[in-house]
Amino acid sequence: MANGAPRAQWGSRLGFVLAAAGGAVGLGNIWKFPYIAGEYGGGAFVLFYLFCIAVVGMPLMYAELIIGRRGGKDPLGSLRALTKSSPAGPALSWVAGLMSVAGGFLILSFYSVVAGWAIHFLMISLGAIEMAPEGAEATFGALVGNGWMSALWHSVFMLITIVVVAQGIQKGIERACSILMPSLIGILLILLVYVGVTGGLGDSLAFLFRPNFADLTPGGMLEALGHAFFTLSLGMGAMITYGSYLGKDSHVLRDGVAVAILDTVIALLAGTVIFAVVFAAGKEPGAGPGLVFVTLPDLFQSMPGGGFFAVAFFFLLIFAAWSSAISLLEVVVTFFVDEAKMSRTAAAWGLGLVTWGLGMAVAFHGPLLDFLDNLTTRYLLPGGGLVIALIAGWMLSKQDREAGFAGANVLAAGWTFIIRFLTPVAVALVLLQKMGLLQLGG
Ligand code: PHE
Repeated sequence: MANGAPRAQWGSRLGFVLAAAGGAVGLGNIWKFPYIAGEYGGGAFVLFYLFCIAVVGMPLMYAELIIGRRGGKDPLGSLRALTKSSPAGPALSWVAGLMSVAGGFLILSFYSVVAGWAIHFLMISLGAIEMAPEGAEATFGALVGNGWMSALWHSVFMLITIVVVAQGIQKGIERACSILMPSLIGILLILLVYVGVTGGLGDSLAFLFRPNFADLTPGGMLEALGHAFFTLSLGMGAMITYGSYLGKDSHVLRDGVAVAILDTVIALLAGTVIFAVVFAAGKEPGAGPGLVFVTLPDLFQSMPGGGFFAVAFFFLLIFAAWSSAISLLEVVVTFFVDEAKMSRTAAAWGLGLVTWGLGMAVAFHGPLLDFLDNLTTRYLLPGGGLVIALIAGWMLSKQDREAGFAGANVLAAGWTFIIRFLTPVAVALVLLQKMGLLQLGG
């Protein structure tokens, strides 16, 4: 590719959908969505989150995919190619392009450490490591406090991520995701049947799907909107990058919608399973970030067949995180292959190593994790999403913009309106709130 060979392409439509859904479905779905839904009171929050996915997430997903598909390069290269005729185009393309590489690099460095914790708990479930006698809270505390342990699992996780990305689009990413995604869905369905037997399912469904609008605070609404970005991997060019390996325009809309629906259904199923376990044990849903690393492991110990449940659950978490990590590294790798003409192998190992280095710092210095998490999810993703929406709505030619609608003019007009006005305003609101410039309660 670097020396003029034609650009790699996904082998099949399904392969692309599984890879993109693999990128989207990650820690955000299985770790973060359940705990924020728990913290913000369930039903009404979930309903508003669904609304955000449909009204802001899906249009931006389409925008990123069509930009990648039409631009045929990394985010910077694609945006630059498509905005040539617009005066502000090149500058904004640089902004969004650099935010994308920075996003991939920074998110992956802490994402890999958290994914490493899941490996640690998998090892505990398999009996290879002992749980602390005081229970999961002490176990988790010791893990986070012990830099070497976190660093070990982080290194393992980075290694398996690099190996896949180094093998390229079809042989690496598409092949891995074609195994990981079906396995993930299979495990989730098994867990669902399992909680159907062990109980708590009714309470869980009521909590997640019976809205009580008095519970929905403005702060919760903005959290839902922000999470819609994170969970769909929007705002940092991940979908531009994957879109750049697509062959045809006409399926972009349908495939983008399929990815968003898969991501959403998997988050809802994961939430259903987790809250069934929590409610069956008579626990509270608002445990916060420790929900899957503290609350669940403790409950697994007292559940019938909990050992099996724990193994399946942590495999699920690792598979989800792995296919997302692959997409994060791929953004950075595609950038250096396209812009700096590096070989894929050199880019994957070289940049993987740099990311591993930052992750090591995260493993040994806990506060760095919160800092990087906040920096990226609060500012970088919504900021990048804002720039991408503005470019997509106002600077792309009509032909490029509407290429994925296959002549469906009403849809194209509706999308154009949303991406020009609604998305930028919604994102600006999230940004202002996150920066503390807009004080909304809750
Ligand atoms: N969407 C992933 C998740 O839910 C996280 C991610 C964000 C991946 C941005 C790629 C880009 O875990």
